[in-house]
Amino acid sequence: MAKVVGGFASSHSPLMSLTGELWEMHAKNDLRNRELVKMPEGKRVTYDELLAGADPKIAKMINREVFDGRVDHIQKGLDELDTRFGQTDIDVMIMFGDDQSEFFFEDNMPSINLYWGDTIKMLPRPITDKMTEAQKVSSRAYGTVEKDWPVDSALGLHVLESLMEDDFDIAQSRYLRPEFGGKIGPATWYLDMERSTEPRPFGIQHAFGFGMARWFHGKTVPVIPITINTCYPPNWISPRRAYNLGRAVRKAVDAWKDEGVRVAFGCTGGLSHFVVDEELDRQTLKGLETANGEILTSLPRHRLQSATTEILNWVAVQGAMGDTKMETITYEAGYRTPAGTGCGCAVGHWSNGH
Ligand SMILES: [Fe+2]
Repeated sequence: MAKVVGGFASSHSPLMSLTGELWEMHAKNDLRNRELVKMPEGKRVTYDELLAGADPKIAKMINREVFDGRVDHIQKGLDELDTRFGQTDIDVMIMFGDDQSEFFFEDNMPSINLYWGDTIKMLPRPITDKMTEAQKVSSRAYGTVEKDWPVDSALGLHVLESLMEDDFDIAQSRYLRPEFGGKIGPATWYLDMERSTEPRPFGIQHAFGFGMARWFHGKTVPVIPITINTCYPPNWISPRRAYNLGRAVRKAVDAWKDEGVRVAFGCTGGLSHFVVDEELDRQTLKGLETANGEILTSLPRHRLQSATTEILNWVAVQGAMGDTKMETITYEAGYRTPAGTGCGCAVGHWSNGH
């Protein structure tokens, strides 16, 4: 039986990497963001439509002083998570993460995929002269060194077979293609447009890479990346399925033959974005802080749209952590425009006393 030694999670929005000054620069992109979803209606809107209905209190929080304060809290939170990761002896990190037009497109879009090759490529994002400073800094946050990152393929295979035995029909992959590209949408819910990506080389997805680069304390801990389709209807994962997937992965880990292997769970992503939904974020954090599966499996679908769905990565980790409660190290409602665009920025840790 393996030993579960903790859980680690954070958001990975550019707001987790940029200075207050660069928040201002990054915020300008929101005027042309095609994925702004208005709550509680759950409909995609333009920036101007969002601004017209926004709470006027938000405008008072859009200034450098507030941004700098939030950045300070966020960076302290990430540093704390990095320190705790460094203090925990971990043999393998099992991570849940979404794929946002990275490896998977609609030629074949898995709802759940487990990667169990011997290694997975970490590939720095290309930096070009045309990019703004904010884009350059946030691209570097996913890793700056090309590297073949080790994967615990033996435990990965065991988890895969255990999941199949437990009626999870998951996809599996063992190597990367030279290039990935394709189309996604239009489909249902918020996804009423087509997204197209030209084929290009790509390394491990952003939802894993951010944690590995930012809070693995410089350690190359072997990973098992489990990708869940949180973002793209129609076969996006439900909160209930994400939670139960986490539970089933935990069951597999508990049954692993290698005595004393020290396993941790983790994820990055969320919370609400590209429009901040503080109410949903607080509800999610309450579910995590009280290890309450009822709350987490009943998060409303109409509010879980676009990249806000990355909350489901956290829900899967909670499923794996069972009754262990998460400590919220940081939460900042990261509004960056008067329209309420931005990201709910969170850092969390589940301690098993290790
Ligand atoms: Fe993301």
